[in-house]
Amino acid sequence: MSAHTPSTVADVASTDLGSARKREALELFRGLPRHYDRLSSALSFGQDPRWRRALVSAVAPASGERVLDVATGTGMVAAELLARSGCSVVGIDQSSEMLAGARARFAGSGADVELIEGQAEALPFPDASFDALTFTYLLRYVEDPRATMRELARVVRPGGRVASLEFGVPPRPVAREAWGLYTAIGLPTLGRLASREWAEVGRFLGPSIRGFYERHPLPVIVDYWRQAGLEDVVVRRMSLGGGIVMSARKARAAGASGVLGN
Ligand SMILES: C[S@@+](CC[C@H](N)C(=O)[O-])C[C@H]1O[C@@H](n2cnc3c(N)ncnc32)[C@H](O)[C@@H]1O
Repeated sequence: MSAHTPSTVADVASTDLGSARKREALELFRGLPRHYDRLSSALSFGQDPRWRRALVSAVAPASGERVLDVATGTGMVAAELLARSGCSVVGIDQSSEMLAGARARFAGSGADVELIEGQAEALPFPDASFDALTFTYLLRYVEDPRATMRELARVVRPGGRVASLEFGVPPRPVAREAWGLYTAIGLPTLGRLASREWAEVGRFLGPSIRGFYERHPLPVIVDYWRQAGLEDVVVRRMSLGGGIVMSARKARAAGASGVLGN
């Protein structure tokens, strides 16, 4: 186990639980598990199930492999991973409420899935303990995406795969304009129609996505992946860039920087 591995519950709890960003994320997801699946699909114009499938294809789980799904939420990606192959899945999320949604999803299904409450910034697993790792809509919620990428890569075995799904801002002017209108007007309106909690999501999402890429432009995020020892980084923009699936492989040689072409 490396020096980075939190070895006790106290170590995990001592990570930056007090940061405003983390408190906001914990609060935001407290009221969302009910109707999460249907509403997250509706709020992305029905695109996000397609993005999740692309994410799982990018990581290509094989029978017998152990896959970690970080920010598993109500377990939609975990379910897709399990449906695709005979892999086993560990899902981790910091929100007990979202995890309760995942537990309800898998209850009595006999699925080979373990659900754990914990933080992406301090994973309670030894180095190289997974064949593959997925994460969805996570990096906007962490204080230090570069350090979090290092922590995620740490638990993947050399040669193992990592894939992520995040929202994006379309790069082309017309699509970007339409995205701006949708996130400024459409999303808040749809959210208000759904519930008080979803109204908050509708207001929050556009500025959160835009602000994230202003602080961490996409090429910089690709660098975070490479600095974490991930190589062959592939970026796939989907739905005109509204969704971004990234994938890579953990370098085989210890200490390799993974600076390779896309
Ligand atoms: C938008 S949901 C995505 C859930 C699910 N993966 C999906 O595909 O719908 C984002 C999830 O990230 C979790 N999350 C945010 N920050 C986290 C962190 N630092 N560590 C673990 N989970 C986190 C939230 O609790 C929430 O369940």
